[in-house]
Amino acid sequence: MREAGDRPDDAGPETEDDGAPDPDAELDVDDEADEAEVDERHAIDELGLPMPVLAVETALALLAHGTVELVGLLSASTNNALLGVARLDGLEAACIYKPVAGERPLVDFPDGTLARREVAAFETSRATPWNLVPPTVLRDGEYGEGMVQLWIRADPAADPVALVVGEDPVLRPMAVFDAAVNNTDRKAGHLVVVNGGHVYGVDHGVTFSPVPKLRTVLWAWRGQPFADEELAVLHELRAGLDAALGETLGGLLDRIEVTATRRRLDRLIEAGVFPQPDPRRPALPWPPV
Ligand SMILES: Nc1ncnc2c1ncn2[C@@H]1O[C@H](COP(=O)(O)OP(=O)(O)O)[C@@H](O)[C@H]1O
Ligand SMILES: [Mg+2]
Repeated sequence: MREAGDRPDDAGPETEDDGAPDPDAELDVDDEADEAEVDERHAIDELGLPMPVLAVETALALLAHGTVELVGLLSASTNNALLGVARLDGLEAACIYKPVAGERPLVDFPDGTLARREVAAFETSRATPWNLVPPTVLRDGEYGEGMVQLWIRADPAADPVALVVGEDPVLRPMAVFDAAVNNTDRKAGHLVVVNGGHVYGVDHGVTFSPVPKLRTVLWAWRGQPFADEELAVLHELRAGLDAALGETLGGLLDRIEVTATRRRLDRLIEAGVFPQPDPRRPALPWPPV
């Protein structure tokens, strides 16, 4: 087993039989759908799947209650993520489905918990005004319980690496969010830039560890004071943890992880500055893109 941030791409799949399904074996895909086995988001855009811009509540209803037709396996995915189309009452939208059964075991996170962490990250984002995580639900699917998230069409002209390298302030809310959820895997490839410049974050399966282990490419503002608005959002999240957000996270995470999130928020608010890398731990995800 490997650590969450230690994911060499050529390491191959886990060899132990962890009961994970082999989506290739059972998935009924036609020639056209085979083309969905791509390792690159822009190629997916060319498949012509429906990718409407939806209000959050509309998307949540579609993802939670719609049918999900699977169209392919994301070949770059380390957790057997599948691409699908959710349909409900004439509305349809592409989505990503990560069944718990497809999760690769990690040494630093309990087995079978990644999908719930993704939903917890969405719920935390939802408790901010920043709209950082695409609508995400936990539901049953063709390969059992998993997370289903709205697929976001990226602007093909936008380059998340350039935003990171250029220390673009548009990424500040994401850096604040990552500190709050203790993200251990914020690589540039987990940033989706849409037309108009808004940036979404994806792949939040390795968040909310009770151990501080922020691993991110967004260190540009380390040690710098939070802006007033950023601090206000942290206060809002902290208050939410003693109210609705705390309840919601309590249904998705271990109690210790929710408590650790409260403490993390307390420390961030008290410090008033973006966190610094911990010299005793890897600070960057690998690969960083
Ligand atoms: N909701 C989404 N919208 C658009 N692109 C996404 C979304 N979720 C994932 N992706 C893209 O698919 C890639 C693989 O998905 P990811 O969630 O990182 O899977 P894994 O858990 O296997 O790393 C991501 O790096 C990103 O480029
Ligand atoms: Mg990923």
